[in-house]
Amino acid sequence: MHDDKLITIKDLKSPKGTFLLGHLPQFNTYNKHQVLERWVEESGDLFKIHFVGKEFVVSANPDINNKMLRQRPEQFKRFSKIDEILKEMGVDGVFNAEGASWKRHRKPIAEALNVKNVKAYYPIILDKTNEILKKFKAYATKKSIVDVQKEFMAFTIDITTEIAFGHKLDTINNKSDGFQKHLEVIFPMINSRITAPIPIWRYFKKEKGKTLDYSLKSIEKIIFEFIEEAKSRIVDNPKLKAQPTNFLEALLVESDEEKFNDKEIYGNIFTMLLAGEDTTSNSLSWAVFYLAQHPEIVNKVREEAFTEYNNLDIPSKYETIESLKYANAVVQEAMRLKPTTPQLYLESNEDVIINNVSFPKGTSIILQNKVAQNQDEYFSNANAFEPQRWIVSECPMHKNHSPNIMRAFGGGARFCPGMFLAKSEMVVLVSALCKHFDFKLESKLEDIRERFEFTMYPENLKVTLKPANKI
Ligand code: HEM
Repeated sequence: MHDDKLITIKDLKSPKGTFLLGHLPQFNTYNKHQVLERWVEESGDLFKIHFVGKEFVVSANPDINNKMLRQRPEQFKRFSKIDEILKEMGVDGVFNAEGASWKRHRKPIAEALNVKNVKAYYPIILDKTNEILKKFKAYATKKSIVDVQKEFMAFTIDITTEIAFGHKLDTINNKSDGFQKHLEVIFPMINSRITAPIPIWRYFKKEKGKTLDYSLKSIEKIIFEFIEEAKSRIVDNPKLKAQPTNFLEALLVESDEEKFNDKEIYGNIFTMLLAGEDTTSNSLSWAVFYLAQHPEIVNKVREEAFTEYNNLDIPSKYETIESLKYANAVVQEAMRLKPTTPQLYLESNEDVIINNVSFPKGTSIILQNKVAQNQDEYFSNANAFEPQRWIVSECPMHKNHSPNIMRAFGGGARFCPGMFLAKSEMVVLVSALCKHFDFKLESKLEDIRERFEFTMYPENLKVTLKPANKI
């Protein structure tokens, strides 16, 4: 690929497909990431596929992927269907904005989620970590089988909704709330529409479509009410300008200057709920998947927890998170092996040549990022769960260690702005859980499967918890 000859899409190989439908029948909604991985094995790290004539280039080449991610927003944008589907649902936020509009959105969003603000949101993380810990202690006493996926989803839903706009939910304690019920209708619909080859819903409105419209309207009404309330709160209490207590307040303060209108604020609150819930809870679930198989690592995280916040259940200060190096390494390693967003979808804005490969304007590209993260070439003993590879002093024991290959949070100027928040939630919870419990897998390893629905999670992950001995 690095010789001088220009390679065109016509020259690229293609895995086996059918003449008319192309590769669509194999690329079903549930395990498309694994299908892509199989195709990478079959056709190498750069190939093409087609769905009923619509062509996609698939790249699992980390150098090409990195360059494409970095050449945004100018040369590449997100796959245009993402914007189409979200706009159709009334969502116009940073995730689907492009070009100059994206730059305008990105700055206040990145600021609202920067370390300083995440620190101000820490009391919410603390409160919810305490709640889930209480619940897990009760599970341990009763020796209950825990559906980790469901519990972590409740944890991130409660945190994200409160941080997004100050709406207190108690999904952890199974208190149902209309707001969450509406979101549950919307997320799977976004997933199925983004991957649907034909937009049937535009021609026939089925019952599902009507329910979706009702849920979207209800969510919009609730969020707009919160926007009005937050505006008056800021007028009554100008101190909030310096230290906003949630993302909505932070955006309203920023938007003095950036002139975000209410519709855009709504679009970004919605985006945050969409981007911040499953991604974080699924990454936590994968961390527990590995911890339950590695008691020696649970012990190391526990030792660190006792050293850093000895007699407390969870760290009371945000700053302590920075000292939880081992818990952080566990999170990082789980995300290396099981990134919850294994692929990203892009489109070229103009004719671009990268590493001698020519991508004409309008080329749709699937960036498969997981394969490289799991290759020995980049990480020695790549398939093993070894968090110590992320601890700097222990790193030389690993011949190959290429952190730059990690794309779990994306890359370039559009990398995930929620990374600090997500990492804070994950590191605190992983540390606190290891401090208090030993984990035992209650599902057979072969029954725990990767499942992709918008993000990738472990299906069937069940564990029991045993109170840990003090160190
Ligand atoms: C472990 C948890 C998370 C993972 C794995 C994750 C992953 C990602 C990835 C892969 C992207 C695409 C980046 C790119 O195109 O280069 C992204 C974008 C984004 N994420 Fe996250 N994310 C997580 C948590 C969060 C949280 C907690 C929030 C907010 C509360 C958030 C907000 C966003 C937003 C707004 C974008 C769009 C950024 C843009 O287009 O400029 N994410 N995330």
